[in-house]
Amino acid sequence: MGKPRILVTHPLVFLTDEDLTRRFDIRQLDSELPIGGEQLKHELAGKDGAVCFLIDRFSADVLQATNDLKVISSVSAGLDHIDLAEATARGIYVTNTPTALTNSVAEFAIAIMLALSRRITEADAIVRSGQWKGGWGLTYMLGSELKGKSVGIIGLGRIGTAVAKKLGAFDVSLSYCSRTRKIEAEQSLGIRYLSLDDLLSISDYVIICVSLSDQTRGMIGERELLLMRESAYLVNVSRGQVIDEASLVKVLREKKIAGAALDVFEKEPIGNDHPLAQLKNVFLSPHIGSATKEARRAMVLDAIENLTAIFEGIEAPNIANPEVMKRRPLKVVKML
Ligand code: DGY
Repeated sequence: MGKPRILVTHPLVFLTDEDLTRRFDIRQLDSELPIGGEQLKHELAGKDGAVCFLIDRFSADVLQATNDLKVISSVSAGLDHIDLAEATARGIYVTNTPTALTNSVAEFAIAIMLALSRRITEADAIVRSGQWKGGWGLTYMLGSELKGKSVGIIGLGRIGTAVAKKLGAFDVSLSYCSRTRKIEAEQSLGIRYLSLDDLLSISDYVIICVSLSDQTRGMIGERELLLMRESAYLVNVSRGQVIDEASLVKVLREKKIAGAALDVFEKEPIGNDHPLAQLKNVFLSPHIGSATKEARRAMVLDAIENLTAIFEGIEAPNIANPEVMKRRPLKVVKML
């Protein structure tokens, strides 16, 4: 058997060409921009596998146009850019890198909470724009401490749990909601389980850590936002589509909640003409929760490990659609 033919949709800067070409026959695209559906179909012709980013949409239409594709290894935790049901039906293994970015995203969630509570971007802008006039004043640029506040985490998976662990050091009172109750985590993290509505109504900070699914899409709409306190902040490091963005803009404009810190949006990228970018009570960042050298390197290495494992017929650590194994059972093959 020749080397598997692999499409790599973007440069994988943490690897050398040698790392890739030793085992695979690689076609690597050199743009950082998303690949459109037609180009993807064209590039996938005759490929056995693909390594992609979350900006590349593997829709049912794209997958239906493939003949030889056996693996899609995504350099991401989220897989909402891949039609998993279609991939499974076509016997295509889909893998992701869910553990590599946990710590970076959790640190980032706390960083943007602090950006809100201590008005960090506003403070920086004041100094740079020459508006720092008064020197020092008792009420100048007042923020508030995290200590003593109630923090509600929606979704206690890897990232939610890491956020809760780190917040332990801030003396906050922690609660969570999730599809399933996690009694062990409740004990070890000192976190209490609440319904979504109760969590929204009592929290000073609500942090969204769920992955995007049919159950979580749009789960935070106007009704849910209006349950929050007027003094409360919303933080989102998961996927923009979990929140109904138009409702969020409305409640922020009407000051029905105090503010939001958002790393993810319904449709990315957003420009400076986006309604959220017109508001003062929000912190915005360009989907960079996992953007650390440590996480990105680990994500790339995990993606290549997943890809190699599937071609060697070994159960990769992160198969997102294990049902595919019935359709296309793994066969052990020794690669170089
Ligand atoms: C992912 O991998 O799903 C993250 O959103 C990347 O930051």
